[in-house]
Amino acid sequence: MPTAKILLQLDPDPQISTFDSVVAVDSGVDQLFRHGAVSASQVRDLVYGLIFTRSPAELKNSAIFIGGSDVTKAESLLKAAVGSFFGPMRVSILFDPNGANTTAAAAVIAAGRHLELAGAETLVLAGTGPVGQRAARLLARQGARVRIASRKLDKATAVCDALQEDVGEGTFVPYAVSDDASLTTALDGAAVVIAAGAANVQLASQQTLSQASDLKVMIDLNAAPPVGIEGVDPMDKAKERDGRICYGAIGVGGTKMKIHKQALVRIFERNDLVLNAEEAYEIGLGLE
Ligand SMILES: NC(=O)c1ccc[n+]([C@@H]2O[C@H](COP(=O)([O-])OP(=O)(O)OC[C@H]3O[C@@H](n4cnc5c(N)ncnc54)[C@H](OP(=O)(O)O)[C@@H]3O)[C@@H](O)[C@H]2O)c1
Repeated sequence: MPTAKILLQLDPDPQISTFDSVVAVDSGVDQLFRHGAVSASQVRDLVYGLIFTRSPAELKNSAIFIGGSDVTKAESLLKAAVGSFFGPMRVSILFDPNGANTTAAAAVIAAGRHLELAGAETLVLAGTGPVGQRAARLLARQGARVRIASRKLDKATAVCDALQEDVGEGTFVPYAVSDDASLTTALDGAAVVIAAGAANVQLASQQTLSQASDLKVMIDLNAAPPVGIEGVDPMDKAKERDGRICYGAIGVGGTKMKIHKQALVRIFERNDLVLNAEEAYEIGLGLE
């Protein structure tokens, strides 16, 4: 009898993500062990239950998914899980809290379909949230110059500093964007804009965007009306509007889902993977 594929789903939220569970089942997981309200101190024993029940050779059939809406808490679970492994006693992990990694990867892949990212001027609106920060990180790793906009300059500056330290290369420039004038300044010379703002918040008006003469690609990750970029439809997928290529949240979401599912396949191919934003991006590129 083939060894069942077991996925340990760790979620810091009390209400475990149904979305993540459904994608796991649809990606071929045989048994899903779902744990909610998980704290970092509980992770080691949960992981031990997974790694001490099968031989090292069989451990590629066991894996961990770490999700949930709170990315900071999820990061503490990831650290605890990786810290519980030793020698061959380990399993692969997919880390995608809030869909942040797969969504950011899909957005950057979408942009890269239409222009060379290396050397490109890019702007991430509301780039301080988990999705925006990861999109910024991936853009920088491709050699893009990355502007990060926030309503507050000190918040954008803190994110830029943290990303600079993390990536160690590239350029991050903070912008305060709170009205049309500051948005115009942030857009000046930008070829790509990714709007990563919270749901139901419009970040950029059509009127202001129409004056951004260097803009070639607009990607909006907010599907809930009002959307982040006025005039971009959530369903847009490489749709040309007024000479710009547009993607809406659902247009990006198709690629996001493919990456998520493929990543769930990959973590059952070997027992030593940790799939974070960069790995999600590589998986997505391979699916193009
Ligand atoms: N398509 C998909 O598959 C998919 C998957 C996951 C997420 N998403 C979407 O991606 C977007 C980003 O997700 P996230 O979790 O990173 O977002 P988030 O943390 O909720 O918000 C991102 C940023 O939006 C800004 N913001 C919040 N409230 C605002 C307001 N009232 N007015 C103006 N700006 C505001 C904040 O930036 P400042 O305080 O710095 O201004 C915040 O850091 C969301 O729209 C989410 O729904 C899409």
